[in-house]
Amino acid sequence: MSKKIRVGAIGCGYWGPNLIRNFIEIPNAEMVAVADLDQKLLDRLESRFPQIQNTTTNYRDLFEMDLDAVIIATPPQTHFVLAKDCMENGLHVLVEKPLTLDSNEAKGLVDIAAKHDRILMVGHVFEYNTAVLALKDLIKSGELGDIYYIDFIRASLGLFQTKANVLWDLAPHDISILRFLLDADPITISSTGLSCVNNGIEDVAYTTFTFPNRVLAHIRSSWLDPNKNRSVTIVGSKKMVVYDDLEPLEKIKIYDKGVEVIRRTDTFGDWSFAYHYGDMIAPYYRFEEPLREECKHFLECIESGEQPRSDGLNGLRVVQILEAADYSLKNKGLTVSMDFETSEITSAH
Ligand SMILES: NC(=O)c1ccc[n+]([C@@H]2O[C@H](COP(=O)([O-])OP(=O)(O)OC[C@H]3O[C@@H](n4cnc5c(N)ncnc54)[C@H](O)[C@@H]3O)[C@@H](O)[C@H]2O)c1
Repeated sequence: MSKKIRVGAIGCGYWGPNLIRNFIEIPNAEMVAVADLDQKLLDRLESRFPQIQNTTTNYRDLFEMDLDAVIIATPPQTHFVLAKDCMENGLHVLVEKPLTLDSNEAKGLVDIAAKHDRILMVGHVFEYNTAVLALKDLIKSGELGDIYYIDFIRASLGLFQTKANVLWDLAPHDISILRFLLDADPITISSTGLSCVNNGIEDVAYTTFTFPNRVLAHIRSSWLDPNKNRSVTIVGSKKMVVYDDLEPLEKIKIYDKGVEVIRRTDTFGDWSFAYHYGDMIAPYYRFEEPLREECKHFLECIESGEQPRSDGLNGLRVVQILEAADYSLKNKGLTVSMDFETSEITSAH
């Protein structure tokens, strides 16, 4: 049996313990140590996971523990400093989304990973989700026809953040799914939003994208909604799909529905439409926990040296798109384009 990969964690607040549990449960990993600034959280973690032998309030202690890799689940504004320090001290890094809150910093991390030959992976967990992989297959196989538009809703009441707005908190997932499904970056981006509760920090945002082949996409991100909603609707020329992440079993429903213009005469307004109503099917997919798949992929990449699916460059692109959307948000919904080589944002008009 090959040697176990020795993993440490920085951050055990809300999300960190989910990653820590997975690395404890994966046989070829050893969860060696956890760092957090908050001693009470470390005490709680130790009683929940007695397997963890080392905890510390100083993450730099992890550098003395002969680790191979570290997972970073701290607030986004800390990601750059922590990920940089860890890679420069020889560790492979899995950092939570968003990679950073600044594209220069994200680019810096990509460069540091290359210079030190370390794996840099971002926790874009939906790229490891069976339902999202199934959506990609449906698009690629042509079953949906030409893709007209994709609509995302990610809304619920909370969890309000104080350092970054709702775009930076919720939209990274949807942007990573969009790029993954379409294998492309957006041509234009426009976002409008509102700060209802926390002055100056938008809690609701409506973001619209155009992609190559005239595909339109829209993301509604909200911390201020009475209902929890996590859905993606894809409308194609042949079929339509709805992915509801909150459905326990029938997460994906494929609708054999459509409409065609069948006749247009010279007389103004004389159109005829053919509506097609077929079956709805909800195919069975065997689901593994997406976070487990993400963690396993990180370990596989450490062993093989392959670039992760959600590598640093992928993380950088998502940060650039968020930056452009945030710029638009601050400029009354101005439609902008991002130059992905230089991170320059320009008005698209
Ligand atoms: N993939 C997902 O679905 C998902 C869900 C929730 C959060 N997240 C991401 O996880 C990250 C953490 O979010 P959270 O909600 O757990 O935040 P949190 O505030 O609950 O926890 C962050 C923890 O990091 C610790 N911390 C901060 N700076 C530190 C440092 N220098 N050294 C050691 N510990 C430090 C804090 O003490 C805190 O306990 C964010 O990037 C967030 O976007 C991802």
